[in-house]
Amino acid sequence: MNDVYILAIESSCDETSVAIVKNGHEEISTVVLSQMDIHANYGGVVPEIASRCHIENITLVIDETIKKSGIKMSDIDAIAVTYGPGLIGSLLIGLQAAKTLSYIYNKPLVPVHHIAGHIYANNLEKTMKFPLIALVISGGHTELVYMKDDYNFEIIGGTVDDAVGEAYDKVARVMNLAYPGGPRVDKLAQIGNDVYKLPLPMDDSSYNFSFSGLKSAVINLKHNEEQRGNEIIPENLSTSFQNRVVEILSKKTMRALEEYNVKNLIIAGGVSANKGIRDKFTELCFKNNIDLTIPKLCYCTDNATMIGAAAYYAYKLGRRADLNLNAKANDQLN
Ligand code: KG4
Ligand code: ZN
Repeated sequence: MNDVYILAIESSCDETSVAIVKNGHEEISTVVLSQMDIHANYGGVVPEIASRCHIENITLVIDETIKKSGIKMSDIDAIAVTYGPGLIGSLLIGLQAAKTLSYIYNKPLVPVHHIAGHIYANNLEKTMKFPLIALVISGGHTELVYMKDDYNFEIIGGTVDDAVGEAYDKVARVMNLAYPGGPRVDKLAQIGNDVYKLPLPMDDSSYNFSFSGLKSAVINLKHNEEQRGNEIIPENLSTSFQNRVVEILSKKTMRALEEYNVKNLIIAGGVSANKGIRDKFTELCFKNNIDLTIPKLCYCTDNATMIGAAAYYAYKLGRRADLNLNAKANDQLN
């Protein structure tokens, strides 16, 4: 089969990103324009501001990606785009740009689910081996997915309330850390001690997760200590919180690998950048003879390279959209 070059667009939240990816595995060029500093002023992503920033930047990011790649539009086989889930206004900007390129250059349009993108970021490391279990941990998702083959997603468990990244960001806010709090809590957790008693959330026989109780336990603990005139030590609170998160994620994931008799694990989503999680899974997988893949840090948080990586398989499976493709704020992984 000839080489397949895909131009991919990702704009589901607060990153405007475009990439050109060859055969789903090789990054030719990527540009990620993050709006993080702008949203940090508000303590979180402001959807209206995010959409406006995407509008201002999308054409610049497309131009820069193509310029950096040295590839001509005539060499591109398809245009891929994240159609959901995400912020509806943000998604629409990427979608409109992708449809326009598809129409003008007469290229097929390939719709990509954002979480499929996070999963396929692992193919940029090494080719995924099936069957596998994917642990998806991001700002909006916490899921255990069983995959028998490419694009064959069976969700075996997920969060019943907050996503793990969301819990990180909320706990960070309680400790007055700037947005996005996840990486800041992670950094503090590296130097603290696990001295605070926090519950292990949803420690049951299911593959589901719950993080809102753990988040509330952190809030209550802080208030109680303050009422007693005690200062909370952010490093220690971060360590205690992170240890509980790592413990429950690793406990349920390792059980799923055993019960499904699977020897391959991939971790996906922004929270896979977390050092505590990376270290723990590396140790456990080594001990249990599990082949573990985690994306490079630059492919953990939102980027278009991962969308191009997923789109290659969607393209090969014949998935196409027409100009009626609409954005979906929520959509089951498919
Ligand atoms: O995948 P992503 O970029 O966006 C979504 O699709 O949601 O994930 C962003 C989330 C945020 O909640 C952010 O705080 C979290 O990932 N995150 C981290 C770390 N780096 C990013 N959480 C914990 N530790 C980190 N090192
Ligand atoms: Zn994401």
